[in-house]
Amino acid sequence: MSARPFQAKRWGVPRHILRAISRAGLLALLCVTAPFASQAEPSLPPPIISQGARVLPVLATHGMVVAQEGTAAKIGVEILRRGGNAVDAAVATGLALAVTLPRAGNLGGGGFMLVYLAKEKKTTVIDYREAAPADTPRDVFLNEAGEAVPARSRDSGLAVGVPGTVAGLSLALRNYGSGKFSLAELAAPAIALARSGIDVTDDLADSLPLAQARLQRWPSAARIFLHADGSPRSRGDRLVQSDLAAVLDAIGRDGERAFYEGPIAEKIAASVRAAGGRMTLDDLNSYRAVERAPLHGSYRGYEIAVVPPPSSGGVHIIELLNVLEGFPLASLGANSAATIHLMAEAMKLAYADRAEYLGDPDQVAIPVHGLISKAYAERLRAEISQTRARPASEIKPLDPAPYESDQTTHFSIVDNDGNAVSNTYTLNFSYGLGLVAEGTGILLNNELDDFAAKPGAPNAYSLVGGAANAPGPRKRPLSSMAPTMVFRNGELELVTGSPGGSRIITIVTEIISDIVDFGMNLAEATEAVRFHHQGLPDELQVERGLNPDTIRLLEALGHRVVVHNAWGSAQSILRANGILMGAADTRQRGTLAAGY
Ligand code: GLY
Repeated sequence: MSARPFQAKRWGVPRHILRAISRAGLLALLCVTAPFASQAEPSLPPPIISQGARVLPVLATHGMVVAQEGTAAKIGVEILRRGGNAVDAAVATGLALAVTLPRAGNLGGGGFMLVYLAKEKKTTVIDYREAAPADTPRDVFLNEAGEAVPARSRDSGLAVGVPGTVAGLSLALRNYGSGKFSLAELAAPAIALARSGIDVTDDLADSLPLAQARLQRWPSAARIFLHADGSPRSRGDRLVQSDLAAVLDAIGRDGERAFYEGPIAEKIAASVRAAGGRMTLDDLNSYRAVERAPLHGSYRGYEIAVVPPPSSGGVHIIELLNVLEGFPLASLGANSAATIHLMAEAMKLAYADRAEYLGDPDQVAIPVHGLISKAYAERLRAEISQTRARPASEIKPLDPAPYESDQTTHFSIVDNDGNAVSNTYTLNFSYGLGLVAEGTGILLNNELDDFAAKPGAPNAYSLVGGAANAPGPRKRPLSSMAPTMVFRNGELELVTGSPGGSRIITIVTEIISDIVDFGMNLAEATEAVRFHHQGLPDELQVERGLNPDTIRLLEALGHRVVVHNAWGSAQSILRANGILMGAADTRQRGTLAAGY
């Protein structure tokens, strides 16, 4: 079967005119003084394959898994081939990543899964974000002088949230698996890999030296990931994780309670307490993954489904897209100074709202519906100057009625029946706290640094927050994870997501805009140079590779442009005309789009 080549025409505007407009760049921007008219809704679906494109997606006709590590992706594809659905494959892939991508795949962390069930046309969310222990006072990360102490929220047992991954994957399987595979069958490939060992991949060999200091602090972790002399395992070594294999085996045999009760839970609580934390057996016993309704928005005729708080990701992707919908981005051009300026100004406003309003929805009231309304976006748009970058210090949230780690990981799955999973999960830092719970092989997260230790105190990724995201008993810290799906006329078209912490929100927004506004194919949208502004620090971050002329134009508008190394690792699937197109981000080694 061959894909229909897309005819190069963007929403009826001839290409030479578009090129001239985007060449005019800043001039076009400066000349427009009247408010922009809304961009007309596209009359054509987005391109499937751009002929002559520099990069192309991988194609499949039945099912596909796109993940940050290839062995785990192939395990998911095998489950699909054997008649499993997207959720079965997600459980197998998620458990395998805990073995093959230990810096982010995990049993000791948490995340969010967005599930689409094609027959019922239903989307749902599994929130398996970590929770603070019951004994978590608001000032847990402050010293006697009331100052935030980053070492407490990042480098001690106090940083560890009650892990959610095992509960989340189990809940997803129970409620939405095909019923053809038991948890034990889906865990079997991960168990085999942990028991017999994996060759240290290039990606693993790259990541271990960066986390060496954190792993070295804990003998239980050093024994697994470092040599006896303290040097990291390297290419050609074999990484055997026997304790992890035994834990996976117990989970497969006895279900999630094997993790949250009994000897495994006792070992986790004991290790966290020995590292200075307050987690008890009761905190583990009482942890539950929660099923939540997704949030829905729209962008130029496309329907967007995202995860709700306690992640901020979904709220702000919809908020950003609502603001951008009023700007004629297609005519301003992809990554032109005009487009980046407008998007950056919108980003600053969204991140100001994030700091003010977002937190755990079970403990604080969040004006979600105001934040994602088109009416609120119109008010935000009115705040944006087309000719001047606003200093972040001027930005206050309206009343709506070192950055986040790339060490989170995302995978996207679509099965033969059109069911889909978009899953992002994390330990927070690379290898989390670096602490392995003694005798379990389980790396523990340092997710509680995602709380606002006190109003205005930045977390590891310079994100600030206030009362809504203050630490508290059993509270879930605010996340930026954003597994996302895009639909057109009720049909699933895009499954996407990425690591990148606070930048996840802008990565996903840019991918959607690159496809909808600029007609990029999925691989082009994944590879496109990224940019990000989160208000604080007041800098427009751009990836290496943005045209220096564009940077100068942005600086002329008042932006402080800072060029960074590449960020994120988006793993996405686009579905059109019965074909699945996968794009695995090439910014990190070992990523894979695989299908059949
Ligand atoms: N720890 C990263 C996030 O949840 O946003």
